[in-house]
Amino acid sequence: MLRLQRPLPESYVTATSEDLARLIAAAKDTLGSRLMILGHHYQRDEVMRWADARGDSFGLSRIAAAAHAEYVVFCGVHFMAESADVLTSADQQVILPDLNAGCSMADMADLESVEEAWNEIAEVTDIDAVVPITYMNSSAALKAFVGRHGGAVCTSSNARAVLTWALGRGGPGGTAGAGSAADIKVLFFPDQHLGRNTAFQLGYGSTDMAVWDPRRDTGGLEDRTVKEVRFLLWKGHCSVHQRFRPDHVAAFRKEHPGGRVIVHPECSHEVVEVADEVGSTDYIIAAVERAPDGSVLGIGTEIHLVQRLAAEHPALTVISLDPLICPCSTMFRIDAPHLCWVLKELVAGRVVNRITVDDEVATDARVALQRMLDIT
Ligand code: 13P
Ligand code: SF4
Repeated sequence: MLRLQRPLPESYVTATSEDLARLIAAAKDTLGSRLMILGHHYQRDEVMRWADARGDSFGLSRIAAAAHAEYVVFCGVHFMAESADVLTSADQQVILPDLNAGCSMADMADLESVEEAWNEIAEVTDIDAVVPITYMNSSAALKAFVGRHGGAVCTSSNARAVLTWALGRGGPGGTAGAGSAADIKVLFFPDQHLGRNTAFQLGYGSTDMAVWDPRRDTGGLEDRTVKEVRFLLWKGHCSVHQRFRPDHVAAFRKEHPGGRVIVHPECSHEVVEVADEVGSTDYIIAAVERAPDGSVLGIGTEIHLVQRLAAEHPALTVISLDPLICPCSTMFRIDAPHLCWVLKELVAGRVVNRITVDDEVATDARVALQRMLDIT
């Protein structure tokens, strides 16, 4: 979704990195405990060095929910800042340093197409037995949809727990309308890969899943398929993680026999199948930290995180599985000039780039986010 970030005043564009660092440090000092800067692991180092807390999208949502600062400056992407706004109180303000920092995967599902899919599924099967689960990488409007329809949000670090919860909801004490847990189905959006990888982890097979293509009638599926499968996986993906292929893993193993492969669950199942470990950005960091000195690790995730891990662990060899991997272009939009600008404006008593979620949407989205926090 295109949001318009007005161009920065020239002085921020031409400032040297030393000047920007000095200005950011001074603004942080002035704002003190009124300010909290959150940094997602994919942020550039020039931004990450100023973060009061770092994390994956689950960790950052927890930190935001517990934060007391008046201003939460979110160095990440739009859906993360929206979730932080939903989870913080009304007197706290969430700021995204560049409004164009979206997420192409989150844009692959919108409320209109999910509602259309929901109605089409309802024509074919018992909709009370369908639990909608949205990945954190989605708009607040979709989180609200999920909250209204008895579902929950999940992230890459808790998808397994959330899907287990969803699939168990039809049994005794469950809240879904269906008679038994065996009848429950999950509509999972927008990332087909996280949905598929988690379903496989839970022991389901490929015949239990079908891809729902929102561009085609009834998702491009036969009625019988919609009725029979346990997982309807939205046809969405992350353009960064979709680049990793099994032959990258094969090439890494050939060059580094004994090396270990760790990938993010937004990678395709073919890649996950040949990896040694799979997990969220926090998981990947922890896996690198526990690797013995001398280990060679091939990582399948965004390049800024891989490069930071390599720099922080000189006793290890940490490399990207894809030598040509691009950064996440939207995470990359947050840079020192934008961070400096929003902070200097706050010092001047002006809040720029505030992210707000409409009250009605926020109420339902909070239900779905809170379910995730309670389940995990
Ligand atoms: P994590 O929750 O693992 O940080 O992932 C967020 C994301 O956008 C990965 O592409
Ligand atoms: Fe979205 Fe992919 Fe970037 Fe994560 S890496 S923010 S899923 S585009």
